[in-house]
Order: sequence, then structure tokens, then C-alpha cells
Amino acid sequence: MNFREGDYILLVCEDRRYLKALTKDFSLNYKERVIRFEDIIGKEPGYFINGFYVLRPTLEEIILLGFQRKTQIVYPKDSFYIAFKLGLSKGKRLLEFGVGSGASTAVFSQLAGEVWAYEVREEFYKLAKKNWEKFGLCKNVKIENLDFMSADVEENFFDAVFVDVKEPTLYIQKVWKVLKFGASFATILPTTNQVSNLLKSMENLFCNVEVLEILHRPYKPNPDRLRPQDTMTAHTGYLVFARKRI
Ligand SMILES: C[S@@+](CC[C@H](N)C(=O)[O-])C[C@H]1O[C@@H](n2cnc3c(N)ncnc32)[C@H](O)[C@@H]1O
Repeated sequence: MNFREGDYILLVCEDRRYLKALTKDFSLNYKERVIRFEDIIGKEPGYFINGFYVLRPTLEEIILLGFQRKTQIVYPKDSFYIAFKLGLSKGKRLLEFGVGSGASTAVFSQLAGEVWAYEVREEFYKLAKKNWEKFGLCKNVKIENLDFMSADVEENFFDAVFVDVKEPTLYIQKVWKVLKFGASFATILPTTNQVSNLLKSMENLFCNVEVLEILHRPYKPNPDRLRPQDTMTAHTGYLVFARKRI
């Protein structure tokens, strides 16, 4: 579909990428180049003008370039993998607590049938909702401004859980109770000692435990000088996966 007023667009100029709303007063300058509303409106995605490619943003680009962040977010390299490890599909109900800026929820909600989400801090609860509404995301997410420990949820209710809080060990008994037998658990933790504490607390409650990290190493896409970029994000977090056992 051709671009219309109000669409979000991704502009690519050399190695720069910009995510912008296509409003009547839109214009962008980079070096000597300029691109305006009237250059884009009615054009097809992939169009090239004045040194800019005009595209529709993917979910990854929306999260990385369009979401306002006031917390650490789960980066798409991790959240897309977590979504598959959780076995999400339209028939599944996911529990998530520690919603923060709403980045990981935006990924999971695309694959899950419904998401029950809890965020204890009001400012982040509002921020996540604002990020989702801006891009029309997370319509199947039921979010509450609540500490997960106060959430009133049935036992054996969820098919999967994603936990993104500092000390998941504090919640592990309740998490176990609200999951169905065999359901999937996932979390992300920045340090190995947090992982060790969590593993101890999971003994006799969970099976099929896996710990891993994802190294994402982008390359400069020059066919004659193909090589990795000079800098990379070396660490985001350790991912822990497990299944609820009897
Ligand atoms: C690192 S952020 C989550 C980031 C989020 N996953 C994302 O990708 O945008 C952790 C969040 O957990 C929230 N939190 C901490 N303890 C919680 C609890 N017991 N129940 C609900 N939210 C909690 C914090 O307020 C914070 O916003």
C-alpha cells in the first residue's frame, strides 16, 4: 500500500535510519539532503528520493527507534528468540511481569493469543501503554499497574511466563503455581550470580533447564570488504528457560 498521511515511515540514508510520522509539516535534513512530506505521500515503499530510501518500519525498528525507553529493554535479538522458546501461538496465554517500557511485550503479543501483564511502577505502566498505543500494538494485552505478588490469578492457568525483574527467585513459588504443568518459563538476567541464585530456587519445581546468551555480531555489508562492524553490544543478559514439572 502506498504511503498515506499519518503512516510511520523508516528513512534510510547512508548508515542513518530514522523512524518518523508522516505528517503534513514533516521534513528531514541530512548533510545537504532534504526530504519532505510531499516527496513521500502516495509513493510505494522502497522509493528512493534525494538520497533517502523510504520504507515501512518492522516491529524491530519500531522498538529500537520508535519506543520511548525509561527502563532497560529486552533487545529484539533476545525477545524474538525468547518468544519461540516459550512456544507462543494464538492458542496460548502468556503471563509477563516487569513490563517496563513495553518492548518485550510488543514482541510476545504478536505470537501469543493473550498476554496478562503486570508492572508495579505507575510511570512505566503508563509509558508501556503509550508506546503500544502510538504504534497500534498489544491489543491482546491486559496490563495492570500491580506488583505480581498482589495479582489475583488462578492456579494452573498460564501456558508460558516471561519474568523481567531483578530477583525472579522471590516470585518462583507463585510463578510455579500459576503455570500449567509442562508450561514454559523464561527470564533474562544480567549477571551470572543472579542466574546461580535462580537455578537453586528452581530445583524440584522446574525441569529441562537451559542457560544461554545470544551474541549478535553485525557485519558491514560491503561485498568487497565484508567484515564485522568495529563495535558491538557484547552483553545484554543471560537467558534462562525451563518447564514446570510435577
Ligand atoms: C528491566 S524492566 C522490564 C523491561 C521490559 N521487559 C522491556 O522489554 O521493556 C523491569 C521492570 O520490572 C518492574 N517490576 C519490578 N518488580 C516487579 C513486580 N514485582 N511486579 C511487577 N513489575 C515489577 C520494574 O518496575 C521495571 O519496570
